[in-house]
Amino acid sequence: MSHSSDAWWRTAVIYQIYIRSFADSDGDGIGDLAGIRSRLPYLADLGVDAIWVTPFYPSPMADGGYDVADYRDIDPLFGSLAEAEKLVEEAHASGLRVVLDLVPNHTSDQHAWFRAALASSPGSPARARYIFREGRGPNGEQPPNDWLSVFGGPAWQRVPDGQWYLHLFAPEQPDLDWTHPEVIEEFHDVLRFWLDRGVDGFRIDVAHGLAKDPEMPDVGEEPEDILEPTKRIDHPFWDRDEVHDVYRGWRQVTDSYAGDRMLVGEAWVATAERRARYVRGDELHSAFNFDFLKSDWDAGALRTVIDRCLVADSAVGAPTTWVLANHDVEREVTRYGGGETGLRRARAAALLMLALPGGAYVYQGEELGLEEITDLPDELLQDPTWKRSGHTVRGRDGCRVPVPWSTDGPSLGFGAGEPWLPQLAHWADLSVQAQDGATGSTLDLYRSALRLRRRLLEGASLTWLDAPPTALVLRRNDGPDAVVCAVNLGPEPLPIPDHEEVLLASGPVDDVVPADTAVWLRVT
Ligand code: NOJ
Repeated sequence: MSHSSDAWWRTAVIYQIYIRSFADSDGDGIGDLAGIRSRLPYLADLGVDAIWVTPFYPSPMADGGYDVADYRDIDPLFGSLAEAEKLVEEAHASGLRVVLDLVPNHTSDQHAWFRAALASSPGSPARARYIFREGRGPNGEQPPNDWLSVFGGPAWQRVPDGQWYLHLFAPEQPDLDWTHPEVIEEFHDVLRFWLDRGVDGFRIDVAHGLAKDPEMPDVGEEPEDILEPTKRIDHPFWDRDEVHDVYRGWRQVTDSYAGDRMLVGEAWVATAERRARYVRGDELHSAFNFDFLKSDWDAGALRTVIDRCLVADSAVGAPTTWVLANHDVEREVTRYGGGETGLRRARAAALLMLALPGGAYVYQGEELGLEEITDLPDELLQDPTWKRSGHTVRGRDGCRVPVPWSTDGPSLGFGAGEPWLPQLAHWADLSVQAQDGATGSTLDLYRSALRLRRRLLEGASLTWLDAPPTALVLRRNDGPDAVVCAVNLGPEPLPIPDHEEVLLASGPVDDVVPADTAVWLRVT
């Protein structure tokens, strides 16, 4: 088994839809499936190849839907199973593939299995699907070990009979025991349930976290190091070797279906080489490349990341998958310095990302140049991190604010009601309506880049050309189709490389590429 060389996912641009914030059809302030369906023409016109829809399953929403109570249905907030089926059908008719979000590390505490586990006694088969342990101390009143939850506080919750259960995320998200055959079989079945309905792939939540050290040893480090999956390789719950068996099993399931179904892993791991282990020929098809997202706006750092990731992934025959943003990280306009500088850099970064070989992700609103909203009112914050950190860490709501579609209306076209998080007034000027057809707008830049990329940039070759240390100049394709991407990350103007034609630029260019600007050039 190996990765086929012309499969769609190798070069696809996949648009991430955070369903709660994309488009609200019924005015309840929360995005839904009908909202997505109504915006398929926009997405097809944008020029992306596929959509990834964040979890839409029945859920108490303790973590925005990443606490799944039933993997085979749709939460009424978002619609119905019939509507999900229609979404797949209509997306396909619009030329878009559909990737669902699968959450295998944990269920909701309202999932039938966990309710059964709580209703059963210690040591019962129902508890064996989760990770229940006795506590430490004379009466077991101390957690079984020192593991911490990603959202703050201990990773263990005590139940009335005295046992503790593991939750690497919120207490409402109990971790499954992935050594249990029923857990393995259940997820094969869930995959088949959706594959039978025509979905093209799955994004795997916390792909690096499913396997735990059976000895459950203390981590014994500073709390922040315990949770940092990228700090060490020998970790009791992140990136353990056993997790790869799970993906080998899943790969057999997707391979048994026609039509290049794909699996993309959310794997936060220590190095590009460790990540490449997830995309070996008989495991996942791709994995988000978070090194690119985490890199500073620095030519040397970015070049190192790009080279290292390309080498690591190509060693196992997989494409690299570039990411600038998602619903868990600060929006890149803000990350790169905010204001005009941040936006200029974000636009240049988009041209760099879309010029690289492999796949790429666009997070809703990225194509509009939205910034992080950092001062949302405390009482509206919903990320569990806010509560679990004792109101010290505000969490990720600032990158999850509903998309502005039009220049006016109660939620700038997001829906008829008040949106679940308030937009900024100036987002009217960033709305799709305001940017549509406006030459030089960020939306226009993304549309143009995606069209050109489809036509000119699907090959695998990349050659670095000479450039000053504060610039990146790379060539894609050889021969008559060659394209050069030049990015100026420094303060001094960069002389524009020799070219036949300027194909696209993230800002005004003439015989120089100004600071924080990128350009695509046709060369011979
Ligand atoms: C990663 C998801 O992207 C994030 O939003 C979620 O909180 C955690 N996994 C837990 O499921």
